[in-house]
Amino acid sequence: MVAHHFLLLCFIFFCLSDVILQIQSVGVGINYGQIANNLPSPSRVAVLLESISISRVKLYDADPNVLRDFSNKNVEFIIGLGNEYLLNMTDAVKAQAWIQQQVQPYIGQTNITCITVGNEVLTGNDTVLMSYLLPAMQSIYAALSNLGLNKQVIVTSAHSVGILANSFPPSSGTFRSDLAQYIQPILNFHSMIKSPFLINAYPFFAYEDNPGQVSLEYVLFEPNPGTTDPNTNLHYDNMLYAQIDAVYSAIKAMGHTDIEVLISETGWPSKGDPDEAGATLDNARAYNGNLLERIRKNETTPGKPSVPINVFVFALFNEDLKPGPTSERNYGLYYPNGTPVYNIGLEGYLPQLTSSSSARSEIMDFFILSLLNIITVDTKREESTASFSDPQVPEEDNTTTTLYALHTSIF
Ligand SMILES: *[C@@H]1O[C@H](CO)[C@@H](O)[C@H](O)[C@H]1NC(C)=O
Ligand SMILES: *[C@@H]1O[C@H](CO)[C@@H](O)[C@H](O)[C@H]1NC(C)=O
Ligand SMILES: *[C@@H]1O[C@H](CO)[C@@H](O)[C@H](O)[C@H]1NC(C)=O
Ligand SMILES: *[C@@H]1O[C@H](CO)[C@@H](O)[C@H](O)[C@H]1NC(C)=O
Ligand SMILES: *[C@@H]1O[C@H](CO)[C@@H](O)[C@H](O)[C@H]1NC(C)=O
Repeated sequence: MVAHHFLLLCFIFFCLSDVILQIQSVGVGINYGQIANNLPSPSRVAVLLESISISRVKLYDADPNVLRDFSNKNVEFIIGLGNEYLLNMTDAVKAQAWIQQQVQPYIGQTNITCITVGNEVLTGNDTVLMSYLLPAMQSIYAALSNLGLNKQVIVTSAHSVGILANSFPPSSGTFRSDLAQYIQPILNFHSMIKSPFLINAYPFFAYEDNPGQVSLEYVLFEPNPGTTDPNTNLHYDNMLYAQIDAVYSAIKAMGHTDIEVLISETGWPSKGDPDEAGATLDNARAYNGNLLERIRKNETTPGKPSVPINVFVFALFNEDLKPGPTSERNYGLYYPNGTPVYNIGLEGYLPQLTSSSSARSEIMDFFILSLLNIITVDTKREESTASFSDPQVPEEDNTTTTLYALHTSIF
């Protein structure tokens, strides 16, 4: 019996160390969208993200439950101010009150590094809202400055790649001329406060709109002949990098070479309606798996060889309440129960909520958690990355804390 357990523990040790070492270097961020009624509690999500060493999270709001439950978790947060707040945020008093109520109480324990003011405002149809964008960004920045937080928390907004009028060849990238009146002063502001320009880019849409013309291999980061920019002679083997460099060119055409471009959203749906070409499990696995591999290799785009790509994948979970075509509800890397939608080496664990469990499995869980702790500490030393706290057992889960996958495969 003892020998049996010892072997089992060795087996677990090797499985876990393999998983953790393999993913330790992933610098990818993840969008934690919550338009769903079946997601696990933030405290369980914190354990899941810790288990796959994802330490950069983007929210669409400033959900106090998430910010509280990720206290002392070594996770860096981009939080969001929804478009519905823009009008109020142009008012300095309201902007400061928002920071004081939604940001300041959490910032001691939770690492909030960035606020996105509005999402894809310039590709909407509301020109009044567009005119509020910069003033809202400015008053949020002023409020952070007043409170002494502007060094710690940067201010930006996120835009759709649809703000480009031209994206190919990348060296000819330009913004839509009707949006220049908004974008030029926003770029000047970014340059002044040294904050990045955020783009949501989905090569999936380009393929879906034109499956006959766009090469699937080119959009999925698979081997393909690629394209060469005739002006620069730079070679592109995938669409995302071409889009990023097109944004750099558009920014340069407005007089700035000092603003970093960050991909605030990209992803691929694992399921779609019959008329949504390309929305399949295999394509989603290829897109996100290949992208993670490139991030692991610290790749840069051809046009910015000194700047490693900086990407937030969309999204952590499938979100069942998102409106629109089937694809909209199927961008997640995980189902709400913590099972990966496909295997790209991100087999994590979500503490399960089960009603009954045997004493034997509780003992095993204790051993697994202890081992995981040892491995995490070990890895931490080797990698000399910032420290992780112990895997936490959420309060609501006092009977069993099971390691997803391991538990189901062993018991
Ligand atoms: C904007 O401010 C008004 C007045 O203070 C308030 O009633 C309203 O709820 C605010 N809007 C949002 C979206 O917070
Ligand atoms: C917060 O995250 C940033 C970016 O990763 C890092 O430089 C900083 O040290 C972190 N701060 C804390 C308090 O962990
Ligand atoms: C703007 O777009 C929204 C949804 O995208 C739509 O409901 C609304 O009617 C549009 N407004 C105008 C003025 O076109
Ligand atoms: C990627 O960059 C990180 C940090 O600069 C470095 O530690 C790591 O070794 C690099 N990985 C590769 C594959 O070059
Ligand atoms: C778990 O917690 C609930 C409520 O907090 C409590 O009623 C229950 O007795 C606890 N179970 C065990 C095994 O401690």
